[in-house]
Amino acid sequence: MDRGRFLRAAGALALLPVLVRCGGERLPDYPFRLGVASGEPSPDGFVIWTRLAPDPLAPDGLGGMPEDAEHAVRWEVSEDEGFRRVVRAGRAEARPELGHSVHVEVGGLRSGRWYWYRFEAGGEVSPVGRARTLPAPGEAVGSLSFALASCQDWAGGDYPAYRRMAGEELDLVVHLGDYVYEEEDTRTLADFRRLYGLYKSAPALREAHAAFPFVAVPDDHEVDNDWAGPYPEDYPELGREEFLRIRAAAFQAYYEHMPLRPSSLPRGPRMRLHRRLRFGGLAELHLLDTRQHRDDQPTGRLIAPRRPEALEPGRSMLGEEQRRWLFSGLRRSRARWNLIAQQTMLARYDYDTGPGVSVNHDQWDGYAAARRRLLGFLRERRPSGPVVLSGDWHAGFVNDLKADFRDPASQTVAPEIVTPSISSGCPWADRVERALGENPHVKYFGGDRRGYVRCSLQEGLLRADFRLLEGPERMVTASSWAVEAGSPEARRAF
Ligand SMILES: [Fe+2]
Repeated sequence: MDRGRFLRAAGALALLPVLVRCGGERLPDYPFRLGVASGEPSPDGFVIWTRLAPDPLAPDGLGGMPEDAEHAVRWEVSEDEGFRRVVRAGRAEARPELGHSVHVEVGGLRSGRWYWYRFEAGGEVSPVGRARTLPAPGEAVGSLSFALASCQDWAGGDYPAYRRMAGEELDLVVHLGDYVYEEEDTRTLADFRRLYGLYKSAPALREAHAAFPFVAVPDDHEVDNDWAGPYPEDYPELGREEFLRIRAAAFQAYYEHMPLRPSSLPRGPRMRLHRRLRFGGLAELHLLDTRQHRDDQPTGRLIAPRRPEALEPGRSMLGEEQRRWLFSGLRRSRARWNLIAQQTMLARYDYDTGPGVSVNHDQWDGYAAARRRLLGFLRERRPSGPVVLSGDWHAGFVNDLKADFRDPASQTVAPEIVTPSISSGCPWADRVERALGENPHVKYFGGDRRGYVRCSLQEGLLRADFRLLEGPERMVTASSWAVEAGSPEARRAF
């Protein structure tokens, strides 16, 4: 070993005794089984997350921690992977009422660079995570690369798509929901905590979190299939109050397991999830919540002949407050690109191969007036470089968002990129495929395959690569698309 390497190794070791001394009481077992995560990056910091859970599947939902005791957690943020240049450090209390999760808002960092972080509790040290601050406001940014992810139904927890994603060079992951899938008996906070404990036992998921900051919004399965506002789908026997209790438990567990700001802590069944990130002068990311504030679906059936209610003018997808927030943010944005990230597909999709119209009422098709209002706004106000990024449907799509979907010749307002699922199946792919001829605004459909979209953004170009698994482990770029600055549509790229 040369002298430099020896000194570096010695320096790294010298840190450990300091951490051990400060760590407080010993824990029954290794407490960092759920890994670490970072999120909510800003120009001077980000959130770092962990949850102490020596036994993540403990029946009481407490992860093997005592129900009545806080536990001290130390954290450090370093400019290098070996923790020789620690620039921020501190102590947080892991409290039983939050499942012994910690959400530390780290500030005072430099913009547009990578940092490394780790935690210590009871003499045990967590895995190391990596996070990147955003560029400074107005700063010229050469490029930004991020992945879109959604829908990670537990499939043995292997998640080869995440394993491949962790090997990419990304600044950020945008997670569009269905992070966990609830089951019939997932009703209490303990049930939801155990569900996250199960999902996070997958090494590939923890690897992806450790590699990049995530910004995430839930969709339906974090709570209940196809829920809408105060209305459940799967619990018809339950009153509204009882469903809101389940929703509150689901939201709390979501908060406890995601690298969210403490200000996102839900208040009962309410949680503010829509928010905005600014990447210097290059892009704004407007992250929407299309579950909590929407009107109920007109029908319980997933895909059905379009019900007249779907066309009612007053129906809302975002709720009035969020809609205004979105429109005013888009009006004020000075960024080159405006990325509107949200859960369900915005483009119309007609499943009826004959003269009728059949739609998925859970998507924006069940809220046609709300969609018309959003697309009308984009058409008239012309915010710079709008691109809609969506999840939910377990298959990749590239769509032209039309001023009038019934008329293929009508103006294209913006492109929509729909990410395939990380692991959830798409048994309705054949049904989509059969109806492609009815939907000329759909330029690409990726079928029943797993993966994610890798996006790279520059001043003049957005490039989107559909990264799909071929066989159990091989990741290929199945299709690439480009949106040129100033153009409302994506074109195939080679
Ligand atoms: Fe899903």
